[in-house]
Amino acid sequence: MTEQLEKPAQAESGEVLGYPFARASALEPCPHYARLRAESPVQRVRMPSGDPAYLVTTYEDVRTVLSDARFSRAATTNPDAPRMGKATQNFRSLLNMDAPEHTRVRKLVSREFTVRRVNDLRPRIQAHTDAFLDAMEASGSPADLIPALAFPLPVTMICELLGVPFEDREKFGAWSAAFLATASLPAEEVLAAQVALRDYLAEQVARKRAHPGTDLLSALVSIHDTDEGRLDEQELIFLGISLLVAGHETTVNQIGNSVLALLTHPEELAAVREDPERIGRATEELLRMYPPGDEALLRIALEDVELSGTVVPAGSAVLPSLGSANRDACQFAGADTLDIGREVNPHLTFGQGTHYCLGSGLARAELQIAVGTLLRRFPTLRLAVDVSELPRPEGRLVHGVSSLPVAW
Ligand code: HEM
Repeated sequence: MTEQLEKPAQAESGEVLGYPFARASALEPCPHYARLRAESPVQRVRMPSGDPAYLVTTYEDVRTVLSDARFSRAATTNPDAPRMGKATQNFRSLLNMDAPEHTRVRKLVSREFTVRRVNDLRPRIQAHTDAFLDAMEASGSPADLIPALAFPLPVTMICELLGVPFEDREKFGAWSAAFLATASLPAEEVLAAQVALRDYLAEQVARKRAHPGTDLLSALVSIHDTDEGRLDEQELIFLGISLLVAGHETTVNQIGNSVLALLTHPEELAAVREDPERIGRATEELLRMYPPGDEALLRIALEDVELSGTVVPAGSAVLPSLGSANRDACQFAGADTLDIGREVNPHLTFGQGTHYCLGSGLARAELQIAVGTLLRRFPTLRLAVDVSELPRPEGRLVHGVSSLPVAW
């Protein structure tokens, strides 16, 4: 359950706040982050699991936690380690590894998941976007943009990238949603989804081994098969899971957040419409202001580390708040203002350091093409309901609206 953040300005040292905090609206994060950054930048919180953590909110500290090897991801898989949600995450996925294991596996995937592979997908992203928007137009105004475009596009692209059957999307979509639940599902359901995803990926790997294609999963299988010992079977399966899970939920929500933000900021919307070349900077600014998740994954401090004058003791859980870091006025002038022309925009929405999002190139291409094409094809696009009526599920690692009715 989301708990209200009460009186953060008076948060006495030692006071523990419930986390995640209630959001101000569908798009806006908790309004108290600015006060936390100024008065309690390393704040003790209680996570949905009941375990304590240090919530880190300034840009500098979040960067440190994400890029300093004293903060470990691998240590979070220890069964006794503090955790965010109710279920243990003990998968050997890329995100759950530290150097040097992480460096080795990431190097192997990066060799295959290249800029060229993403560029090759661009015409496919455009073709699918056009087809989804044709169908939306044909069904007539109003339409719900989430099932019409925001959901099917990233799922289709992740299927094409990995070479897994599109017909299976509902199956793995449900498992992947359960995977990202922090508080909305019982632990047994999350664990069952993890097992189902592992079995599914094991099947897909076997299929690629028998019938290799030009997709990323086939390329990863061939690394495994020709370079024995460098990417073992488990790593291969967990890599597939990482890409499948990380690859669509986030982008689905970000397409929704981006369109909702533009439709509720008429001046910025008009500026992108006037000059479609602005879409690149606009999507970066939308990523900064309205990211699909408030925090990066939990880290465990391997030794005592001082952050903004607070000593985080060894063994503690640390939550880096990307959403707060992106609104830090010490880093971004006019941090709470959506400025789609912002020239320098080192937002942390894709993370920082060794675990920096492997799919950022694909996500950026999808966002630019989806939002750009939508605005071009529907010049009178507007919200069909009041913002307050938009449903927004809580208790998950990613957030956004689950329905976005639009008219034209
Ligand atoms: C708007 C969309 C996306 C956002 C906001 C996003 C955000 C992130 C963030 C914040 C991290 C680092 C987490 C941490 O350090 O705790 C990450 C890692 C990762 N992302 Fe994304 N992501 C997006 C889309 C994608 C896509 C489309 C893919 C794959 C096709 C993908 C694959 C990955 C993988 C594999 C990692 C782990 C990298 C590693 O551990 O080395 N992501 N992402």
